[in-house]
Amino acid sequence: MKKSILITGGAGFIGSHVVRLFVNKYPDYRIINLDCLTYAGNLENLSDLEGKGNYHFSKVDILDEVALKKVFNDYQVTDVIHLAAESHVDRSITDPLAFVKTNVLGTVNLLNAAREYWQVPEGHLFYQISTDEVYGSLDDGGYFVESTPYDPKSPYSASKASSDHFVRAYANTYGLRTLISNCSNNYGPNQFPEKLIPLCIHNIKNNKPLPVYGKGENVRDWLFVEDHAVAIDLVFHKGQINQTYNIGGFNEWQNIAIVKLLCKLLDQKLGRKPGSSEELITFVKDRAGHDLRYAIDAEKINKELGWKPSVTFEQGIDKTIDWYLENEAWLENVTSGDYQKYYQKHYG
Ligand code: NAD
Ligand code: DAU
Repeated sequence: MKKSILITGGAGFIGSHVVRLFVNKYPDYRIINLDCLTYAGNLENLSDLEGKGNYHFSKVDILDEVALKKVFNDYQVTDVIHLAAESHVDRSITDPLAFVKTNVLGTVNLLNAAREYWQVPEGHLFYQISTDEVYGSLDDGGYFVESTPYDPKSPYSASKASSDHFVRAYANTYGLRTLISNCSNNYGPNQFPEKLIPLCIHNIKNNKPLPVYGKGENVRDWLFVEDHAVAIDLVFHKGQINQTYNIGGFNEWQNIAIVKLLCKLLDQKLGRKPGSSEELITFVKDRAGHDLRYAIDAEKINKELGWKPSVTFEQGIDKTIDWYLENEAWLENVTSGDYQKYYQKHYG
């Protein structure tokens, strides 16, 4: 095997697309998907990879130092791509400590395991997958660039910012070879339906209210998840060591406009009367400390590595809606149990 890459959080939304890309594109790499399978982790996302010789799954919590050490030894890990995290802002508002544990302590555990196993940093890479939310909130004009100072505003973004700082500190202090990329909002297949786009698709289909926070004027920059996976592949192979790369969709939307678009497209796909799903829109209490706008300037990754999104928003959202309509059993599985309780408590 040329490389033995530990991908954490591979059973989750973005991780599953990254694992699939690497397993299929690099048959001479060993890919280890390490995930403890929280409510957001679903191995069904990778059922097509079962039986592939270069794919391995390890059910381990990144908080478990002993188990982590064993994985590094067993698989002779050469590189890490770290996606495992608690990822939902609303959950971070109700339970910040869970985010400190997984996102901060978990990342430090992983850094320690890598440093200890590798002994010398040469020939190894620790790649941290981060978010644009660490930069805070933009008012109107302007974009986040790689040198924008960190100014996290939610417990989620504070935990991600903290973990990014640890990655940079390990590069500076111990010479660990690292990379960080900060990406905007992803959408696409396999996203847990607590996030805006899959939640709305699910609720429109089931004639349930569409909760829009505040006035729906907040702006996000949306990127199709498979394009994020391609960017991660490029950064991993061609990124300059200890650098940061911003990844974005060049695709800003106010939340209310996205929700109305989903209503329109689903009315067409479900053969409903035009305008009928919009009646489900329900303005609800705003998210506490709700960031107004995120927008990424992705010029660096474009100029240095030649990356840009391959899919237009129209194409990506069409594929996404079709995937959710065709994968009812997936939705059924992930929305039962833990998530159902959470959903009932917050929106039921
Ligand atoms: P997700 O919530 O869908 O998946 C997270 C995965 O991590 C799950 O499979 C879960 O089981 C696993 N996990 C959680 N805690 C763990 C632990 N203690 N040990 C092992 N595994 C654990 O998240 P996502 O949306 O796919 O995000 C993946 C990464 O990308 C995160 O680090 C997130 O901060 C970052 N990110 C997400 C977005 C986005 O729009 N979703 C954008 C930019 C960056
Ligand atoms: O920007 C990258 C980040 O994008 C990632 O780091 C996070 O992991 C990911 O969850 C996402 O965070 P957001 O908070 O932007 O995503 P979410 O889908 O939760 O919300 C998108 C916008 O829609 C946000 O302004 C809040 C709003 N919203 C969300 C939900 C779930 C609603 O109005 N109603 C809702 O029910």
